Amino acid sequence: MKLELHPRAHQTLADQLFAAGVEFPCGGESACGGCKVRVLEGDVPVTGTMRDALGEKEIRDGWRLACCASAAERVVVEVEQWSLRVLSDDASVPIEPRAGLGAAIDLGTTTLVVQVVDLATGEVERVETALNPQARYGADVMSRLQYDLRQPGELGRIIRGALGRMLGSQPLREVLVAGNTAMHHLFCGLDVTPLTRAPFASPTLGSYRFESSDLGWPGPAEFLPCLGGFVGSDLLCGIVATRLDEAEQTRPCALFDIGTNGEVIVGSAQGIVCASTAAGPAFEGGRIGAGMRAGTGAIDSVHVRRGGLECHVIGGGAARGICGSGLVDAAACGLELGLIRANGRLTNADKRLTLADGVVLTQGDIRELQLAKGAMAAGLRMLAGGGVEKLCLAGAFGNYIRQASARAIGLLPASLPVEPVGNSALRGARTLLLAPSTRGARLRKIAALSRHIELANDPDFQYIFAEMMALAGSNFTDMKWV
Ligand code: FES
Repeated sequence: MKLELHPRAHQTLADQLFAAGVEFPCGGESACGGCKVRVLEGDVPVTGTMRDALGEKEIRDGWRLACCASAAERVVVEVEQWSLRVLSDDASVPIEPRAGLGAAIDLGTTTLVVQVVDLATGEVERVETALNPQARYGADVMSRLQYDLRQPGELGRIIRGALGRMLGSQPLREVLVAGNTAMHHLFCGLDVTPLTRAPFASPTLGSYRFESSDLGWPGPAEFLPCLGGFVGSDLLCGIVATRLDEAEQTRPCALFDIGTNGEVIVGSAQGIVCASTAAGPAFEGGRIGAGMRAGTGAIDSVHVRRGGLECHVIGGGAARGICGSGLVDAAACGLELGLIRANGRLTNADKRLTLADGVVLTQGDIRELQLAKGAMAAGLRMLAGGGVEKLCLAGAFGNYIRQASARAIGLLPASLPVEPVGNSALRGARTLLLAPSTRGARLRKIAALSRHIELANDPDFQYIFAEMMALAGSNFTDMKWV
């Protein structure tokens, strides 16, 4: 896609490119090169960061970094950008009718979803989705938290403003917001310092209420409480949506949210344990040479056909990169064809797995996948090792991942029933919105049932993590559900 951009009084070229959809993975902090765009016409000066991230030839060919781009005159830029798949939710939930409109918000690190709901009928009147504009300052929570340390409050103002615009002007009786611990702190204007250093224990994890005048929103709002550490109200809402806290069966259920910061929750009406595990960004395409998010041009699935690899590309055009679900598939197919060993080693001489023209996985990419997969699987094994009834997969990645591939590489147990539950954060927030008289009691009950575990403090974690890095479906075979 070509974009023609003109200098504007209060918007840099970088701001205009971000508004057009270009992602800034590191916010310009570490010269990651993930925001490359090509200048076709006009002049975008080369900065020191660009020299750090780009080769001489790339610069000669017109490549620049969008995050530090500026221009004094008109420029035409080629941006191979994409529209992200944003997961909403329309499952029917119990309702306690009352007059007026309300809203449930899933404030994700990458995407935002706002649902405006008729409180009398439970009908979803309107859904708004958008990229989280904080991504202008870094793709992952750690770079956002670091930015907030340097510019306190700015990311909070940005997100409150963006969500306010998505809510519109129609009066709302109340708004419930769910998000991870970093989003909670940034939105609520809390000190993020405890989240940036061990033991990552913040004293301000509770719910926060705001009057509509505090936010400039069309109604009062509450940011729902976190469960502990990096387990936020998105997972609390996941518990509500999957009714984990009400499950009376003999064995507990597990809720698994696979992402940059993966979370595992195991529980029933008898008790709930939760933990987060820093999986790294591989499942979102980060730190993978050809990695990208699941949007147009991404290889999102790979199959073995006639002894070779066949890739599906979102949007149907040429492949530009590979997203997390494609990466898991590619590793599973590589194992099946003997191109990758269980220890992650690529078997061919050049140590590369070619998927499409210009889309290649290297040994380093497979190692990143192993790190991410190992952290997630170790968390699951440590919390769910006593046996669980079923595994609910939350979030976009859980929704799009091919289960057979995830089982083949040992990210999911081979024989455990797995149920994708979609955007459980949004569904849980809407469920709580529609149950005003029981909401407080249910939140208190979940808080009383829940125990947060710091996996990194467990002496077994490193050992199990190393073991679970193997790309093997046998990772979980000694566990009770198998
Ligand atoms: S260099 Fe990382 S976002 Fe631009």
